Amino acid sequence: MHKITLVTGGTGNLGGHVVTQMVGQGRPVRALSRRPPAAGEAPGVEWCQGDLAAGEGLERALEGVDTIVHCATDGRTRRGDVVAAQNLVEAAARADGPHIVFVSIIGVDRHPLGYYQAKYDTELLIEASGLPYTILRAAQFHDMLHYALHQASRLPVMPVLARTSFQSVDTAHVASRTVELSTGDPCGRVADLPGPHTLTMTDMARTYLRLTGRRRPILPLVAPGSVPRAYRQGLHLAAAPQPGSRSFEDFLREGPAVKVPAAARKTAR
Ligand SMILES: NC(=O)c1ccc[n+]([C@@H]2O[C@H](COP(=O)([O-])OP(=O)(O)OC[C@H]3O[C@@H](n4cnc5c(N)ncnc54)[C@H](OP(=O)(O)O)[C@@H]3O)[C@@H](O)[C@H]2O)c1
Repeated sequence: MHKITLVTGGTGNLGGHVVTQMVGQGRPVRALSRRPPAAGEAPGVEWCQGDLAAGEGLERALEGVDTIVHCATDGRTRRGDVVAAQNLVEAAARADGPHIVFVSIIGVDRHPLGYYQAKYDTELLIEASGLPYTILRAAQFHDMLHYALHQASRLPVMPVLARTSFQSVDTAHVASRTVELSTGDPCGRVADLPGPHTLTMTDMARTYLRLTGRRRPILPLVAPGSVPRAYRQGLHLAAAPQPGSRSFEDFLREGPAVKVPAAARKTAR
């Protein structure tokens, strides 16, 4: 009989897919959120209110849990995710020492973006926790690139990062690999998970304009600073893309809603 899997960030983009797939497989799932559920939200899921950053509600959240899928993130503060992970692993160590599956980002150990550095610190913290763990580094989700292009297309001229490529990946595909890893034994760090193509941001912008029927001149910009340079150098890329999941173009063809990523929420409010 399955014990309970706790999904942190179960109301988020990746976590939402993870929860849905696990419920579909008949696995007992508990979703952690800072808020109560909306009416009719998350059928088949046990809801647990708690706050990782404040360390609240975690003891209850971890009761009877043998696996944690850690998808919660709050891009509004640079160190917030590290504090949240610290509280989570401490609470997990006091509980039954469950397997923790963490979804990180490709290149976090070499890329200077503050959000990525916090992800890397979180990886190190989990590795040093003494808990059984699995870490999966994924590429940027299609939703993230879609959001960036949607924002850029609101201007009369569409700015994009020049000489910068992405290997964006479908969120449901990352969720399905995450679910698979959560059912197996802890494996430490597993192979990176990029999407099926390496595409320049300019090409992605062309595809976005074509499929949304918009007309904008595209303006590739060489932005100054270490972070844009790191993107130009491809420090966020895997050695090669990985075929077998939905392409960015097919994702756009299906007319996705614009999802605001956590890191952008502060300014979007
Ligand atoms: N987006 C990408 O392109 C990408 C690429 C590779 C890896 N990843 C990683 O994948 C993971 C999921 O990303 P995502 O984009 O799916 O995230 P998301 O949609 O922004 O979801 C964030 C989730 O975190 C929860 N959360 C935030 N602060 C919390 C706190 N203090 N206590 C409890 N829950 C909290 C939120 O729940 P409530 O608001 O309900 O409390 C929400 O469900 C992250 O670790 C991210 O770094 C993302």
